[in-house]
Order: sequence, then structure tokens, then C-alpha cells
Amino acid sequence: MKRLEKLYEGKAKILYATDNPDLLIQYFKDEATAFDGKKKGIIKEKGILNNKISSRIFQYLEDKGIPTHFVERPSDREMAVKKMQIIPIEVVVRNIAAGSLAKRMGVEEGTPLKKTILEFYYKSDPLGDPMINDYHIEAFGLAQKFEADVLKEMALEINGYLSKFFDERGITLVDFKLEFGRHKGQILLGDEITPDGCRLWDKQTKEKMDKDRFRRDMGKIEEAYQEVCRKVLE
Ligand code: TMP
Ligand code: ASP
Repeated sequence: MKRLEKLYEGKAKILYATDNPDLLIQYFKDEATAFDGKKKGIIKEKGILNNKISSRIFQYLEDKGIPTHFVERPSDREMAVKKMQIIPIEVVVRNIAAGSLAKRMGVEEGTPLKKTILEFYYKSDPLGDPMINDYHIEAFGLAQKFEADVLKEMALEINGYLSKFFDERGITLVDFKLEFGRHKGQILLGDEITPDGCRLWDKQTKEKMDKDRFRRDMGKIEEAYQEVCRKVLE
């Protein structure tokens, strides 16, 4: 497979065409952003670590029967993925109150939830990813009703597998964001699953091991990503 022209550059990744019309290369950068790109920085080797972490997790989910866009990891920063039509919805799954939910509901970070929460956001940088619900999805034609139902079902199933995966490695999966796309009539999990888009807390010490360390200037960011990578690859 040969890497061809750049198709799209996002905040953390670049998408390239390949000589296979069904496949793209997703290239992982070290750039980190937060608060809709208002905060910018570099997390050294993040691209390499996130590619390793995400590849391992996609492989694990595939083994459990979850269809993903993952094909292979041909190099340190490159992931070969199936070409998808992106569904412009970010699905956030929350097991414990943190971040924007804790703020919105006026509770402390770490407050347990009686039930897992699913949230939808409209994927739009200029609008700052506004929160939406099932009605907005249908009314604005972002996805069909049956597709929204599939996203919910897949997100909850993925949450079950990932919560167990991280728990076995001494990490609590607090919340995370998923993106999906359409490929040959099937809905696939896309994007990445990394400490950029998950809240991961050390089970014993509750120490943060994710991008909140960057968002909140907590230091030891590279170390946290390396530790997650080491545990994920166990
Ligand atoms: P939030 O508490 O800021 O809404 O974030 C919830 C989860 O979603 C958290 O694990 C980080 C992830 N997330 C992203 O991956 N991208 C985003 O743009 C936002 C806002 C959150
Ligand atoms: N990814 C988003 C941004 O770059 C938000 C975040 O992860 O905090 O602004």
C-alpha cells in the first residue's frame, strides 16, 4: 500500500489517500489542542503512543465482534483504515461524572452515576461541537433513526468491553468519545481511542492519565501517555 495525497488535516491527525481506493492512512501527530483548539501544544511522541494504543484497542474490539475501521499499523505514526463516510456525530459515554458533565450538573468530579450516560454532539469545529439529541439527528438529517439506534447500541457495547479492558489493567474508564462512519452498508467505529478522547484514572490513586493533564496544566503528560500505552499493550 502506497501513501498518496493529503486529504484532510485535523487537530491531531492527517488523512492520506492510498493506492487502494478502499483504504486511507491515518497519520498521528504530536499536536494537542483543547477547548476547541484555543489551547495548543505538543505532547512529545503522542502520535506514536496514540497509534499504538488505538491499534491495540481496535484489534481488541474487533476480536469481540465490534466492526471498526482499523486495518493495520504499517508504521509508528500511520494506521491503515477503511475509507468511511463520516457520520458527523460525537458519541460521549460517561460512567462517572467528570469534565463538562460535573460542571453542568453542579456535582464533584468523581461522583458515581446510577446509570451510564450517552450524549451526542454535532461534530462542527466552528460551532464548538454543540450537544444534540435524537431529535436533532433526525431533523437535521445527520443520520437515520436506525443508525442513531445502532450508534447507541454499539457505544454501550464498546463501553462494556473497554471498561473491563482498562479495569484489568488498573485503570478506571471514566468517560470517552467515539466517532462512527458508514462503509459498504455497515456502520464502523472510526477515529481513535486514546488518552486524547478518554478520561482514564488510576484505579488505586485516582490519578489522571489522560489529556486532562494537558487541558489543566497538570504536568507529567508524556509520562501518563507512556504509562497508558505500557498498560494497554500488556
Ligand atoms: P467533556 O467532559 O469535556 O464533555 O468530555 C467528555 C469526554 O469526551 C472526555 O473523555 C473527553 C472527550 N472529548 C473529546 O474527545 N473531544 C472533545 O471535543 C470533547 C469536548 C470531549
Ligand atoms: N479536542 C477538542 C479540541 O481540540 C477538545 C478537547 O479535547 O478538549 O479543542
